[in-house]
Amino acid sequence: MEPGVSAAPSPDVTHPLQGARIILAVSGGIAAYKAADLTSKLVQSGAVVEVILTAGGQEFVRPLTFQALTKRAVHTDTFAPWTGTSFGHITLAREAELLIVAPASANTIAKLALGLADDLLGAVALSTEAPLLLAPAMEHGMYHHPATQEHLATLLQRGATVVGPESGRLASGYEGDGRLVPVETILGRARALLGRDGPLAGKHVVVTAGGTREPLDPVRFVGNRSSGTMGYALAQAAIDCGAEVTLITTTTLSPPVSAAIVAVETAEQMRAAVEQAITGADVLIMAAAVADFRPDQPQQRKIKKRPDQHVMDLRLTQNPDIVASIDRPGLLKVGFAAETDDLVANARGKLTAKGLAMIVANDVVDTIGSAESVATIILPDRPPDELPRMSKQRLAAEIVARLLPLLDPEDTNGA
Ligand code: CTP
Repeated sequence: MEPGVSAAPSPDVTHPLQGARIILAVSGGIAAYKAADLTSKLVQSGAVVEVILTAGGQEFVRPLTFQALTKRAVHTDTFAPWTGTSFGHITLAREAELLIVAPASANTIAKLALGLADDLLGAVALSTEAPLLLAPAMEHGMYHHPATQEHLATLLQRGATVVGPESGRLASGYEGDGRLVPVETILGRARALLGRDGPLAGKHVVVTAGGTREPLDPVRFVGNRSSGTMGYALAQAAIDCGAEVTLITTTTLSPPVSAAIVAVETAEQMRAAVEQAITGADVLIMAAAVADFRPDQPQQRKIKKRPDQHVMDLRLTQNPDIVASIDRPGLLKVGFAAETDDLVANARGKLTAKGLAMIVANDVVDTIGSAESVATIILPDRPPDELPRMSKQRLAAEIVARLLPLLDPEDTNGA
């Protein structure tokens, strides 16, 4: 996975997994071994993880595996004796902020849909108000059986989130549907579910990321060094706060799990995608490095050199300024200013000229293609807010935090 875009959060960022009380139920299936990796990543992300192993789960993995990873007792028994402050499934269910079932076997899915409470997971699932995240994994035939499909439909209709399964090679050696989704996907969904009631709940944020590629011919393009990391971090930070996010991107980094992705290449394609995505949106964050110029006449066939040709002239034509051209009442526009000189003055000029609510200025030499950034955040009529060097994930969280009062000015007394 590319740096900076993993669902596992960067250590210097506050995020919804931190301190979250999560029940991870592991049911019977060979994919149960992958639940150990999921447990480890949840714990590393700062979550407090209580593991329930069903009877089927225990056939594939041992409680000690999860005990070692969580440093907590693993729950297997509905009728385990109650201790002073812990009342079995009642305490587990009450304290949980999220119930993940991964892998979810066909049997467990059936139990949950029917509301059976003949084991600890069934009892907890009936008692808890926490959202339910299911990651099914089973044989192709079991997954496609009408019974399983109906049970999944019932759970979806009740508000459960279902991720996967994926297609591919199954434990049996056959190809089919039924593979557990990657652990990163479950982690990303968990992160989004825990953040869904955050301060951006109900808001739609559109983010652009990466450098545009302007074709010269079918093989070559004019581009820049932007990696897209900043835009991806912003998309994740907005999801962490509960926003619905559309990420318009030129890169192939692995995207935040819950973002709607629109892949583009050129400035012209990005402009069209932005115009479509901002319908009904609340915020547009233009983190993309849009090429100011594109080859005047891109060739349909590869440009060949002649032996006697020592120079080649390239004629460029100006691209539209995407963010400046958008003028939709109620849409908050955030821009970036990539500068090598006169950082604050140039950025302030762009803030005004492009009608932005905020601009993030950074020294392009220091920032482009790097995992870190030194940024100055500029708002109209305020002194520049110079931030220290930090990861792009942390900077994204700082930017989103400064956006909140602009969206609901009354809530914050203009702070
Ligand atoms: N931008 C845009 N469309 C363009 C060029 C830039 O929407 N054709 C956006 C960028 O995404 C960024 C902001 O405008 O949010 C500033 O981009 P930047 O490249 O720093 O500035 P330019 O306006 O291109 O000016 P210059 O390159 O001359 O510094």
